[in-house]
Amino acid sequence: MSFKIVEQAPPRLNRSELAVPGSQPQLFEKAAKSAADVIFLDLEDAVAPDDKAQARKNIIAALRDVDWGSKTLSVRINGLDTHFMYRDVVDVIEQGGERLDLIMIPKVGTAADIYAVDMLVTQCEAAIGRKKRIGFEMIVETALGMANIDEIAAASPRNESLHFGVADFAASTKARTTNIGGVNRDYAVLTDAEPGEQRQVHWGDMWHYAIARLVVAARANGLRPVDGPFGDFSDAEGYRAAANRAGVLGCEGKWAIHPSQISLANELFSPSEAEVMKAERIIQAMKDAAREGKGAVSLDGKLIDLASIRQAEVLVQKAKQISASA
Ligand code: GLV
Ligand code: MG
Repeated sequence: MSFKIVEQAPPRLNRSELAVPGSQPQLFEKAAKSAADVIFLDLEDAVAPDDKAQARKNIIAALRDVDWGSKTLSVRINGLDTHFMYRDVVDVIEQGGERLDLIMIPKVGTAADIYAVDMLVTQCEAAIGRKKRIGFEMIVETALGMANIDEIAAASPRNESLHFGVADFAASTKARTTNIGGVNRDYAVLTDAEPGEQRQVHWGDMWHYAIARLVVAARANGLRPVDGPFGDFSDAEGYRAAANRAGVLGCEGKWAIHPSQISLANELFSPSEAEVMKAERIIQAMKDAAREGKGAVSLDGKLIDLASIRQAEVLVQKAKQISASA
């Protein structure tokens, strides 16, 4: 290990993160009763400019009045390039009570963006004597944000998670798609023409680099990496595949832009019983190996070593966190 200790963000389950437009207060109670680990009440892109002020009032009332149980609760503020953002922060913190856990900052471009929001949040918290410190979730969804992702991830002790905003990222990079997430038939590999063989098309994942990059930046700074939206909520199989790809790379969860996606995310980002059992067997086998003075052994015909213990412990810890929250 490096001599540098990476401090970890407060441990929170973040398998499913439900997006709820602040302009639709009729959805709040249902969201509060859902199985989502995290809910973000949106003031940004799901709310039309003329509805922003009312949405802010709706959210403030809901923070105070709705019983959100033990859910992690977040508000997505407007971007720093708008004139809505300062009032989002000031009004929500000053009038919303103590319940809010996180602020979600969209379209983060530089570490200075985080610094600016941190300054404002710090002043608001101090002015009202808030007891609970608000954490930050940051959506990386522009080319600028992706280029500065390491500095952004390290910019504030309030930082808890990095989210991949695939729709705005596509717009910012001028990617050739109008879908929100998912794959693209033009992002494919055509196998070489070999005599006697049919050429095959293998679809690729056009978001692979962005998500892998985000996972590295998040983990290097002790933050949770979270995959963003999948727009086609009628395509559960497509959602599953996207969530599985993100999970395999290290993401802790994925957004749900429709209630039907919550249970999918919770299932796909929870280790299965078989995975936990295998992890426990690895830990046990390594304990036995240590007693015999060995650093590496074979289990089921495969090499395992000290790194295997660390991999297995990640799974076992996650399973414990999930069962503690149930
Ligand atoms: C989320 O905000 C996105 O742009 O995908
Ligand atoms: Mg966006």
